[in-house]
Amino acid sequence: MTNGQEQADDGVHAPSAGPVLIADRLRKVVGDGALAVTAVDEVSLHVERGELLAIVGPSGSGKSTLLAMLGALSTPTAGTVVIDGIYPGDLEERDRSALRAGRIGFVFQRPALVPFLTVTENILLAGQIAGAAEATARERAGRLLAVLDLGDRSGHRPAALSGGELQRVALARALLNDPVVVLADEPTANLDAERGRAVVALLAEHTREEGRAGVLVTHDASVAAVADRTLHLLDGRLVEA
Ligand SMILES: Nc1ncnc2c1ncn2[C@@H]1O[C@H](COP(=O)(O)OP(=O)(O)O)[C@@H](O)[C@H]1O
Ligand SMILES: [Mg+2]
Repeated sequence: MTNGQEQADDGVHAPSAGPVLIADRLRKVVGDGALAVTAVDEVSLHVERGELLAIVGPSGSGKSTLLAMLGALSTPTAGTVVIDGIYPGDLEERDRSALRAGRIGFVFQRPALVPFLTVTENILLAGQIAGAAEATARERAGRLLAVLDLGDRSGHRPAALSGGELQRVALARALLNDPVVVLADEPTANLDAERGRAVVALLAEHTREEGRAGVLVTHDASVAAVADRTLHLLDGRLVEA
């Protein structure tokens, strides 16, 4: 693990050895006063390069809350996250946004594509947000579409695509900026079993081949079977299976 000194302001630094994603005793209290709930309680984990970790838990067990902290979308009440040697908790919000855009790919339950843009344009949005060079982004988008078997869909609008295709577009968008960390929150929840498996199989394959660190959270243990390792979450805590 690198120390805080190596966090260059522009986020450029040498790849760190060891786990790419580290969570140390993460806690998150949500809600106020008497309604406060500890949604995530003392969760520690790490994910190596090329590894897909599944976190399985029932609805309300804290999966989305945990994933949001792992992706620097929300700040832990206590505990530490380290992403590729960077401590998001030490960053200004602007730099945290840049960290998310450039190094983290998110896939959510709903693909949330822009309806009036084509598949390619939707994917390129991720490059624009991260300030990536247009030509490089286009080239990568083309390759990802081919890998994800969407080559003939590039000029279509989302309404013309099936659920499985939409989720693969969301995956391409998440991977456009060559993220070190890929986080997927119930990416198969709106798909039938077969298409769901196909999407997570692509995610697993890509994570391994490209040396990313992946985390997949799901309530469905059969979806988690594609992962390299599975942790179980119950009432905000990691538990034995
Ligand atoms: N903003 C919030 N305010 C109040 N309670 C919340 C909030 N976000 C999450 N929770 C609660 O925290 C727990 C975990 O939620 P969540 O992380 O969404 O679980 P999961 O993704 O596993 O379904 C649940 O009890 C949920 O109701
Ligand atoms: Mg959730």
